[in-house]
Amino acid sequence: MKDIAVLGIESSCDETAAAVVLNGREVKSNIIYSQIDIHKLYGGVVPEIASRKHIEKINYVIKEALREAEMTLEDIDAIAVTYGPGLVGALLVGVGAAKAISYAADIPLVGVNHIEGHISANYIENESLVPPFMCLVASGGHSHIVKVTDYGKYEIIGRTRDDAAGEAFDKVARALGLGYPGGPKVDALAKEGNPDAIKFPRAVVEGAPYDFSFSGLKSAVLNYLNGCAMKKTEVNRADVAASFQQAVIDVLTEHTIQAAIDNNCKQVALAGGVAANSSLREALQNVCERKGLEFFRPSNIFCTDNAAMIAVAGYHEFMNGVRSGLDLNAVPNLPIGARV
Ligand code: KG4
Ligand code: ZN
Repeated sequence: MKDIAVLGIESSCDETAAAVVLNGREVKSNIIYSQIDIHKLYGGVVPEIASRKHIEKINYVIKEALREAEMTLEDIDAIAVTYGPGLVGALLVGVGAAKAISYAADIPLVGVNHIEGHISANYIENESLVPPFMCLVASGGHSHIVKVTDYGKYEIIGRTRDDAAGEAFDKVARALGLGYPGGPKVDALAKEGNPDAIKFPRAVVEGAPYDFSFSGLKSAVLNYLNGCAMKKTEVNRADVAASFQQAVIDVLTEHTIQAAIDNNCKQVALAGGVAANSSLREALQNVCERKGLEFFRPSNIFCTDNAAMIAVAGYHEFMNGVRSGLDLNAVPNLPIGARV
């Protein structure tokens, strides 16, 4: 059978990325230009700056992805581009570039949901992962428990009612003076602390056993830090980081495993930027082993934003017959499992 080569393009937030993936699995190139060094000067992503930097780098990352894959546009069977969710001005840069190439080189275009891309990153290195399975998606903007019923088919089982898990990491990191992005810094600091030192709340949402709420936890951490400042007691930042992280991990892990068991899924996957968290990966792996479930996660490079995951999701959409027109638009609040 002929190989199917997909060019993936991603620009939904602060990474400008392009990748070439063969047959939905074999990553031939994965080019990521991260804007983190610029945004960290401001303590978070500045949408206007993100759009400008995407414009500066988009052609470069696409050319590099083709060069590294030793391919030209003639070898590409489909272009997969993130069209939501994300920052509208940032998304438009990738969508515009993808439409221009699709039109000029007459290559089919497939719009991809960024979150579905994160989930699909799991297919790259895990050949034995086959739908149906349960996936915990935890990123800077999203926290969902998603049942992947088939390739390209998704059912939302649980979601956050307020902050996303990554957002909570970033806010707590800021309060601890760790800077942006907070996740990796809290992750590192937590290794030196005691996760049982401070009892932070594990919120449950009445009547929605798989949903999350992280804003109360975030407030509890801020109140704790303010309380210490008022009483002039010294803060053990490593203990705060470890105890906060443990509270997030407990809730994410318990709800995901319960969702897998209740829905008869034998395989559990992890996705999104927070999936790079070493303690979360360990906790899920351990519970899965205890419960007789198989656990999967992408390598760190495929957890945070990248275009290989978009090419993989796009491959399955393409094989399912999905095609986008030149009227494809950015959809900032695109829901999981919907085509807009
Ligand atoms: O998926 P992603 O790269 O971008 C979005 O789609 O949002 O996720 C970024 C989020 C940030 O909030 C970042 O702090 C968090 O993922 N993150 C982590 C770790 N690495 C990245 N959170 C916890 N531990 C980590 N090691
Ligand atoms: Zn993402």
